[in-house]
Amino acid sequence: MELEFGRYKLRPFRRGDEPSVAGNINDRKIERYTLNIPYPYPLKAARQWVDLNLKLARGKRMTQLNLAIDLDGQVIGGIGLSAMNGHRAELGYWLGVKYWGRGIVAGAVKVLTRYALRELKLRRVYAKVFPVNKASARVLEKAGYKYEGRLVKDAVKHGRAVDGLLYARTR
Ligand SMILES: CC(C)(COP(=O)(O)OP(=O)(O)OC[C@H]1O[C@@H](n2cnc3c(N)ncnc32)[C@H](O)[C@@H]1OP(=O)(O)O)[C@@H](O)C(=O)NCCC(=O)NCCS
Repeated sequence: MELEFGRYKLRPFRRGDEPSVAGNINDRKIERYTLNIPYPYPLKAARQWVDLNLKLARGKRMTQLNLAIDLDGQVIGGIGLSAMNGHRAELGYWLGVKYWGRGIVAGAVKVLTRYALRELKLRRVYAKVFPVNKASARVLEKAGYKYEGRLVKDAVKHGRAVDGLLYARTR
């Protein structure tokens, strides 16, 4: 599958993506706002990520769908649905720091959400954002997500319990 938006597209991860994944994701500014992306992020982690997604693609049941944000064949970011559970899924994303502020992730969230609701027939796509992450909350608002409330001490980050802002789009 492939979803296009402007000069960019969302497509499955493939072998050969490892250097651009590691090159763009390896940043403290990405690690601090996410739960599952380490810093430093070595090439080995990118290899494991591509392997995992090739394996998931061979599986019978879709439990997560992770896509590369592709510009001219390079992975500049990632977006995905996880915790897929019948009618709903959790949305997550990251973008290489040098590409921030151009509306790229808002575009990616719009096309993937449309695909999730229309093609995958999900009824609910939700995302959880740390309160300090204003850019991410804004991305969700621009993509038509509604703020549902504050999840108190929802996650542990750097050993501290932190709140999550819950956003969702439903059909
Ligand atoms: C969050 C992230 C994905 C945004 O990607 P992006 O492509 O730069 O986002 P967009 O350009 O589509 O939109 C960003 C919006 O936030 C706004 N914004 C940026 N910094 C902001 C701040 N400090 N306060 C308020 N708004 C801010 C921008 O102005 C823009 O809104 P606008 O179009 O109305 O001007 C990117 O910053 C990132 O990868 N962050 C680290 C990982 C992460 O946070 N992942 C999500 C975890 S929930």
